[in-house]
Amino acid sequence: MAENGVTRRQLIDLLNEDLAREYQAIIAYTVYSQVLKGAAYMAIAKELEVHAGEELAHALTIAKHIDYLGGMPTATPKPVVLSDDAVTMLRADLGNENDTIRAYRQRVKQCEALGEYAIAEDIREILRQEQEHQTDLATALGEDVPDVSGPAGPTAKAPRRKGG
Ligand SMILES: [Fe+2]
Ligand SMILES: [Fe+2]
Repeated sequence: MAENGVTRRQLIDLLNEDLAREYQAIIAYTVYSQVLKGAAYMAIAKELEVHAGEELAHALTIAKHIDYLGGMPTATPKPVVLSDDAVTMLRADLGNENDTIRAYRQRVKQCEALGEYAIAEDIREILRQEQEHQTDLATALGEDVPDVSGPAGPTAKAPRRKGG
């Protein structure tokens, strides 16, 4: 329960982490959709172009809620892995989507604990699309969809805070 109990100030900071991840996704999908080469990757390259647009819509929604909460939306993306190797690109995207899904699952609970049901609702809708992205990437890599229900990985770790 402790990790769901954040203050509004902490929620703004966490949403800015989410926004930085959305920017990362916009950039990665923009670049990767254009540089992925080879017949085997034509279909997923088209998918990634669609993802890029969806990530922009997510960024706008998160930025709107940060502003509503009285915060300033960040302008800095999390770093993007650059590679010309298809599998490296797809793995980077999949890893980012896994982190994003973990973070948003936590964020829904935190928003609800604060009574911010409308933000929670919007994040649920984003989460549904992130899970589709995750499935698209895992399928392109010929893998099962990763189980991200366990504890967060090192890049997804939200700051643990007492009280709130
Ligand atoms: Fe997104
Ligand atoms: Fe995504």
